Amino acid sequence: MTKTLFNHYKNLLPITSKTPEVTLGEGFTPLVKSNNLSEKYDCEIFFKLEGCNPSASFKDRGMFMAVSKAIENKKNKIICASTGNTSASAAAYGARYNLETIVIIPSGKIALGKLLQAMAYGAKIISIKGNFDQALNAVREISDSLNLEIVNSINPFRLEGQMTGAFEIVDELGSNPDFQFMPVGNAGNISSYYKGYKLYKSKNNKLEFPRLIGIQAENSAPLVDKKIITSPQTIASAIRIGNPASSSLALEAITQTKGEFLKVSDKQILEAQSLLAKKEGIFCEPASAASLAGFLKYTESNKDYKGKKIVFILTGNGLKDPEVAQKYLSSEIVNTTSRVEDISNAIISGKSKSFFSKFF
Ligand code: F0G
Repeated sequence: MTKTLFNHYKNLLPITSKTPEVTLGEGFTPLVKSNNLSEKYDCEIFFKLEGCNPSASFKDRGMFMAVSKAIENKKNKIICASTGNTSASAAAYGARYNLETIVIIPSGKIALGKLLQAMAYGAKIISIKGNFDQALNAVREISDSLNLEIVNSINPFRLEGQMTGAFEIVDELGSNPDFQFMPVGNAGNISSYYKGYKLYKSKNNKLEFPRLIGIQAENSAPLVDKKIITSPQTIASAIRIGNPASSSLALEAITQTKGEFLKVSDKQILEAQSLLAKKEGIFCEPASAASLAGFLKYTESNKDYKGKKIVFILTGNGLKDPEVAQKYLSSEIVNTTSRVEDISNAIISGKSKSFFSKFF
């Protein structure tokens, strides 16, 4: 039998004999030990590569469960509001399980790769003049009358499915990490990890909570600033959210795990994205890099991370946002002829200069 989240964690998920198995091969993503940063910061760093999921983000962990329950409940249409990744994931599972998928996205504000995914999987895409928070409000209002199953993280089954990230980390490390840094947008994922660690803790009294550190982008930081942001802005479009739906659960997660919310600037996010690519060989999207940016900020005023096990949740693949990568992470290309001599000279003398410093 192929190992799936559905069958491997069946006893910890809301799965009954009536729940159909839904899978696209999600989960069991690599937990990669840092090669360069651990040494530099004198701690044990691990990257959870959630971009290795089938639609290239962590959303698939929740989507398999939400779609499974939608089918169990005889729904044939699903809907979500999205900054991109939820729509890509919903569209993928919708296509595979013959559900009509409707996605509501903020016009011009979702990364190209994510939009192309939703198109390729055949979703009905509705682009609104407005932001994610407005799209989600609309979804809440229309879903009942149109008999649509919401597959945003306000669907409790999404949060249940995403707990598997925490289970995998503990299963693989053989213990809990001491810290976990992760990006926060609508605050579903940090809430799921909290629920997941809590569930594992209730079954094994040797486990402790990792301190959950939720990172937001500077001008989209309602949980740090403790107020709703009506016009959130950030280059990390995935977390451009001003009124997170799971705020109270996320707050509980921070309080119970002795964690905190931190905010980082777009510049810090892009620097962290570049650092991960150039020093660890990991290309994640800007929102995901916020976790490293948050850690770097944390190290400026704290020392308690030293010697500790630290996990970064790298939520999505860098290829999803080619526009940001092209603008801020690209390098000069050395052009030459096809003559072996010219190629050889180009290798010796040609420099591949990063454009990054040009922008900041
Ligand atoms: N990282 C990425 C790559 C995301 O796409 C998201 C959320 C987050 C982090 C934050 O997770 O919302 O659970 O706090 N993306 C949603 C979407 C909002 O529509 O794709 P969160």
